[in-house]
Amino acid sequence: MKELEKIEKSIIEQLDVVEGLDALEKIRVQALGKKGLITETMRSLAKMELEERKLFGKQINLLKLKITNLINEKRELINGFGLKTKLKSEFLDLSLPADLELDGAIHPISQVIQEVSLIFGEMGFDIADGPDIEDDWHNFTALNIPPEHPARQMHDTFYIEKRDNKKTSDSIDVLRTHTSPVQVRTMISSIPPINIIVPGRTYRSDSDQTHTPMFHQVEGLVIDEKSHMGHLKGCLVEFVKRFFNLDEVNYRFRPSYFPFTEPSAEMDIGCIREGNKIVLKGDQDWLEILGCGMVNPIVLENCGVDSNKYQGFAFGVGIDRIAMLKYGMPDLRSFFESDLRWLRHYGFSQFDFPPNARKGSF
Ligand code: DAH
Repeated sequence: MKELEKIEKSIIEQLDVVEGLDALEKIRVQALGKKGLITETMRSLAKMELEERKLFGKQINLLKLKITNLINEKRELINGFGLKTKLKSEFLDLSLPADLELDGAIHPISQVIQEVSLIFGEMGFDIADGPDIEDDWHNFTALNIPPEHPARQMHDTFYIEKRDNKKTSDSIDVLRTHTSPVQVRTMISSIPPINIIVPGRTYRSDSDQTHTPMFHQVEGLVIDEKSHMGHLKGCLVEFVKRFFNLDEVNYRFRPSYFPFTEPSAEMDIGCIREGNKIVLKGDQDWLEILGCGMVNPIVLENCGVDSNKYQGFAFGVGIDRIAMLKYGMPDLRSFFESDLRWLRHYGFSQFDFPPNARKGSF
């Protein structure tokens, strides 16, 4: 019996001062492991007389249980202590007022998307969207840009292999080169009348002061039984006036070519260049801001819309471009450099309304 008390005392003394899980494990092995003190002592039972063995066996089992419990308690204590110190070091006082230095700002692109959505929203347009990774058919073929069509070359497309990896002729996807594929998706999935705009990201392999590999467009699509070029013109002139806060605007629609519209046009607005600055007035110079046209009946048919019954117009505006123009930002690349100083200078407060919000818009 004396022996058991000695063993118990020595283990408890060690447990009292142990720090860390590794040291605790060592004590456990020394006491309860295969060659541990308690295990060895149990072996001596074999040599005892029956009565003595019963009594001693009971004592030793109690000791084993006690030590096991003590070790488990200690382990929980050490773990808990670790958690507590971790929580203490990561403490965040949520009751403190926000540190204004850490405050972010609305990126000009988000701001302009909000402004554009607001203006078209008030004209009765809904907002639609589609995937950034498109298949060739939606991005090109359905829009009357079949394989080998020269218009494909103007798009500097990023091609990506499809994830299913089947080597078939359409095993290649693209990063959408424009927001026009969402026209296709919307016409396929809905019944006219359709009035949508599609603000979103687009991608082309190009980079300089006015081009970045990722940029933004807003697509517009109106399909019904009687919308015509006059409606297209009215809608875009109204948009430009509201967006740039102009009472009057000099504009011109220049004949152009897009495979998905017929006839097609580009809209220019009159401007004056003063050094690096562009001022939107007069007609000394012209600045192209968007492409547009009447939706080509071939595209309507490709999307399951009866071209004898329905017609409509579409347009595509470069968001980054009109943002640069409106807010006087000279280099497109800085939009995507994540420089906080730039964002603080050009960004917008979360609490501001878009400047062209009309009373009662919200
Ligand atoms: N998708 C054209 C581009 O990225 C822009 C465009 C032009 C869109 C005319 C249209 C449109 O919907 O009618 O260059």
